Amino acid sequence: MATVVLKRTGQKMPLVGFGLWKVTKATCADTVYNAIKAGYRLFDGAGDYGNEKEAGEGVRRALQDGLVKREDLFITSKLWNTFHAHDHVKSLAKMQLGLWGIDYFDLFLVHFPISLKYVDPSHRYPPEWFGDDGKVYLQNTPMQETWGAMEELVDEGVAKNIGLSNCQGSLILDVLRYAKYEPQVLQVELHPYLTQDALVDLSKTLGIAVTAYSSFGPQSYVELGIDKGIPSLLQHNSVEALATKYKKSTAQVLLRWATQRGIAVIPKSNNLDRLVANLQCNSFDLTDQELRAISSLNVNLRLNDPAAIDPRISIFA
Ligand SMILES: NC(=O)c1ccc[n+]([C@@H]2O[C@H](COP(=O)([O-])OP(=O)(O)OC[C@H]3O[C@@H](n4cnc5c(N)ncnc54)[C@H](OP(=O)(O)O)[C@@H]3O)[C@@H](O)[C@H]2O)c1
Repeated sequence: MATVVLKRTGQKMPLVGFGLWKVTKATCADTVYNAIKAGYRLFDGAGDYGNEKEAGEGVRRALQDGLVKREDLFITSKLWNTFHAHDHVKSLAKMQLGLWGIDYFDLFLVHFPISLKYVDPSHRYPPEWFGDDGKVYLQNTPMQETWGAMEELVDEGVAKNIGLSNCQGSLILDVLRYAKYEPQVLQVELHPYLTQDALVDLSKTLGIAVTAYSSFGPQSYVELGIDKGIPSLLQHNSVEALATKYKKSTAQVLLRWATQRGIAVIPKSNNLDRLVANLQCNSFDLTDQELRAISSLNVNLRLNDPAAIDPRISIFA
C-alpha cells in the first residue's frame, strides 16, 4: 500500500484512506468493517461527524474477526471548534478515544482555526456551529494555547501525530514559531477546481504532509444544496477522456491526480463498489502533461467555507 512518511515520527500514513463525513450512524459500523475488509487502513473521522462510536464498532469487529491488528490501522480524528481551550482539548480528545474504543489516535487534527464558545458534551454532542438559539458564539482562545494542548496529547500518548486542517500559510508559519512538535499533516479542501498550489508548495517546503479532502469537488456538496451549481468534476469532459484512455473511472482519475503528486486522499462512499474502486486509484500513472491539464481546471472554487455560516469566521479571506 502506498504511504506518506510523516516527518517527526517516521510513521507511514496511507496515501488513500476512507472519509467518514456523512456516513450515517446506522450504516457506519458496517461501512468501516467492509472498508477494512476491502483493504482500507486509514479512517478519517472527526468529533463533528457524529459517528465516532459507530466507526469504532466497525473497527472493533474487524479486530475481533482478525482482519487486521490495531497497529495496521491509521485512525484520524479532529478537535471541534468549541473545544479549543487547553483543558477542553485534553478532555475531548480522551472522550473521543472512548467513543472509538481505542487507546490512541494515529493523527489528531485541529479541525478549523476557529474557536467557538464551549458547549458541554453532556448538553449536546457534537455541538456543531451554533448555540441553542441558532447563533454563532466566538471564544477568544488563541491557536498557541490550543496547539500547546495538542502537544500534550502527544506526550501523554493520546495521539501519535498532530496536525492542522483548513489552515493557510500565515497561520501555519505562526504555529511553527512556538511549536515543540511541528504539525505533521495539513488537511485541506483540494480538487481540480481548487488546486491550492502555493499551499501545497509551502507544505512540501516545510515537510508537512498534505491530505486532500472533497477530491470530487462539488459532488460532496450536492446533497447539502451548497455545490454552487458548478459542473460536476466526475462528468467533466477532460476527466472523462482520461478515464476512457486508462480504462478507469473518472473518480479514480481525480484521486490519482492528487496521489501521484504525493497528496493523500480520503474519499467517502456509502456504496461498496465505489468504495472499493476508490481504493484502487493508484493502479495507473497519468503523464505530467495530463496532470497539468487537470490542474488547469482550477478556478479557486472553495465549497467548504465557514464564511457562509458567519462572516466573522471568514478564515480564507
Ligand atoms: N477537514 C475538513 O474540514 C473536512 C471537510 C470535508 C471533508 N473532510 C474529510 O474528507 C472526506 C472526503 O470528502 P467529502 O466527503 O467531502 O467528499 P468526497 O469524498 O470528495 O465525495 C463524496 C461524494 O462523492 C460520491 N462518490 C464517492 N465515490 C464515488 C465514485 N467512485 N464515483 C462517483 N461518486 C462517488 C459520494 O457518494 P456515495 O457515498 O453515494 O458514493 C459522495 O456524494 C470526508 O468524508 C471527511 O473525512 C474533511
